[in-house]
Amino acid sequence: MCGIVGYIGNRNCLGLIIDGLKRLEYRGYDSAGVAILDKNNDINIYKKKGKVKELESEFNIEDLSGHTGIGHTRWATHGEPNDINAHPQTDMSGNIAVVHNGIIENFKTLKKKLEKENYKFVSDTDTEVLANLIQYHFKQNNNFETAVRYALSEVEGAYGIAVLNRSVPDKIIIARNGSPLMFGLGKDEIIVSSDAAAIINVTKNVIYLEDGEIAVLKYDSFQIKTITDEDIFREVQRIDYDIEEIEKGGFEHFMLKEICEQPDAIQNTYRGRINFQTGDVKLGGLETVKDKLFNAKRIIITACGTAWHAALVGEYMFEEYCRIPTEVEYASEFRYKNPIINKDDVIIFISQSGETADTMAALKEAKRLGATTIGIVNAVGSSIARAVDAGTYIHAGPEIGVASTKAFTCQLMSLVLITLMIGKNKGTISDENLMEIAAELKLIPEKIREIIERKNDFKFIAEEFKDSRNFLYLGRGLNFPVALEGALKLKEISYIHAEGYPAAEMKHGPIALIDENMPVVFIAPKDSTYDKIISNIEEIKARKGKIITVATQDDNEINNYSDYIMRVPKTLPIFSPILNSIPLQFLSYYIATARGCNVDQPRNLAKSVTVE
Ligand code: M6R
Repeated sequence: MCGIVGYIGNRNCLGLIIDGLKRLEYRGYDSAGVAILDKNNDINIYKKKGKVKELESEFNIEDLSGHTGIGHTRWATHGEPNDINAHPQTDMSGNIAVVHNGIIENFKTLKKKLEKENYKFVSDTDTEVLANLIQYHFKQNNNFETAVRYALSEVEGAYGIAVLNRSVPDKIIIARNGSPLMFGLGKDEIIVSSDAAAIINVTKNVIYLEDGEIAVLKYDSFQIKTITDEDIFREVQRIDYDIEEIEKGGFEHFMLKEICEQPDAIQNTYRGRINFQTGDVKLGGLETVKDKLFNAKRIIITACGTAWHAALVGEYMFEEYCRIPTEVEYASEFRYKNPIINKDDVIIFISQSGETADTMAALKEAKRLGATTIGIVNAVGSSIARAVDAGTYIHAGPEIGVASTKAFTCQLMSLVLITLMIGKNKGTISDENLMEIAAELKLIPEKIREIIERKNDFKFIAEEFKDSRNFLYLGRGLNFPVALEGALKLKEISYIHAEGYPAAEMKHGPIALIDENMPVVFIAPKDSTYDKIISNIEEIKARKGKIITVATQDDNEINNYSDYIMRVPKTLPIFSPILNSIPLQFLSYYIATARGCNVDQPRNLAKSVTVE
C-alpha cells in the first residue's frame, strides 16, 4: 500500500525519486520521505507527514545532490502518521536507512532482543526495528548483503524493502517477501520501485523480484539471490504501457479519466479474443486449464472490494449460462474458514492490482489445497498474475484513481468471455444465443460512449443529493452486485454512508430507514426482474423516499415511478451490469467533487492493499 522508489546511477537522484513518489502517491499518502547519499557518503534524510508536496517544501532540490537514494510514501500500519514514523527509518547510528512496505509481524520480539543489546528506538515503527537489526548483523560480519540476509531470516511477515548503508555507498540492497518490488535497468543507472508507474519515465526494461529474494544493485550491475544465498537468474521484461497512460491527460481527476476510458478499455479486454459472427472465444492464457474449467464440478471466485462485486456478477453468469455451481468468497475470509477444496475445483482470483495481500494469501491456500487457480488480473507481471496456474489479463490499462472504475467493467467483460467459452463447450448456450451475445458485445463500447455523453445529467442529479447523509442502492439478479458496487463507490470517495441490497431484501429490514430524506437508487433494467423492481419502487415511494433509477433508454413507464432517471442504452442481460455501473460511477464522482473530496486519494484508503 505504501510506495518505494530507489535510485543508483549517474544522475542527481532527488528529483527523480520525488517524481516517482508522486506517481506512487495513489498507493498510500499519509507521509513521505527520502534518504540521499551525498558525495561525503552522509545520508541526508527528509521526511514529513502529509503528501509528497509537503515533503518538497522541506528542501531545495538544487541544494541536495547525490546519485544514490531511496524514498517512500506511507500508508500507516504501525505507528500514527507523523514525521517521526515516516520512512526512511534509520538504525540508531544513522548508518543504515530503510524504506519498507508491509508488516513485520514479530517486530516486538525483535525489538526486545535489540533493546537487550542496548539499541534505542525513537519511532513506533516495525521498520526502525529492521534498520537496527541490519546494523546489528553488519556490526558482526561487516558484509552489507549478509547483514540484510541474516536480518531478514529473522523476520516474520511481509516486506518489500530498499536499504542504504553509508559504509557501502556503491550499493542499494532490496528484498521482497509478499510485497511487490522491481527494478528498471537504464544506461548506467538502476531505478527501484514497488510499482512500474515510478520506473517507466526512466526505462521500460524491468526485473521483477520474487518472494524470498534479495538483489544487490550497483549503478551498472545487479545480482539476485534467495535470502538463503542461492543465485537466481531472471529475465528482463518490457513494460507494455506508456507514460501518457498514467498521466491525467487533461482530465481533472484520474477517476474521471478512467471512467471515460471505458469504451477503449473494454474493447482492449475482448480485442482478438472473440469471433463476432460465431461467438467463439479464445483466451490464450487459459489454454492450459480449459479442460479443467469445462469439467469443473464447482467454480469458486475470490477477490476483495470492487473485484469481489465483479465475482458476484461472475457467479450469476456461470450459473445461469454455464450451469456450473459457483461460489464467491471474500479473499480475506477464504483461508481462515478451513475451506473444503477438491482437486476438481477451479478457483478464480480477480484483482486489478494483482498485489492485494488477502487475495494473494487465498491463492497460496488454494494452491496448497491442490485446486486449479486462474487469475483475472489487470497489472501485467503482478504477483497474483505470476502465481496462478493460468490467467487472463483484462487489459484495462493502468488504473490510478483509488476508486476502481474501468477495472471493474473490464473484469465483467472478462467474465463474459469466460462464460461464453465455457457455455459453448458445454452446450449450455445455444449457437443462436452465442451469436446474439457476440453481436451485442461489439456494440458495448459505443453504448458506453452514449452513457458518457450524458454525464451532465448525472452531474445535475449529484448536485441535488450532494448533502444527503445516507443512500440506499437496490438491484436484483445480475444487478444486485451493481448496487453493492454503486454504494461502495459512493462511500469510499464522498464519505456518505451508503448500502447496497438485493431489492427484495429491503422489506426485511432496511425499509425502516426510509423517509423523505433517503435517496434510493434502483437499478431497473427492462428484463425479467422489471416488474418486481417496480413493486419495490412503489414500496419506497409509499414511504416518501426519493427515487433515482438507472433505466433503459426506451422505458417510458419508469417515468411514473422515478424522481430522477439515469438512462442507459438497451442491451442484453449479460451486459447490463457493465452499462448500469457507469452512471453510478459518475454519480459518486460528481457527488464527491461537489463536496470537495479528494476523489483520487480518499482518506484512509490506498490503491493496492498489500497488508492483510
Ligand atoms: O487490486 P484489487 O482489485 O485486488 O483490489 C481490491 C480492492 O482493494 C479494491 O477493489 C477496492 O475495493 C477499491 N478501492 C474499490 O474502488
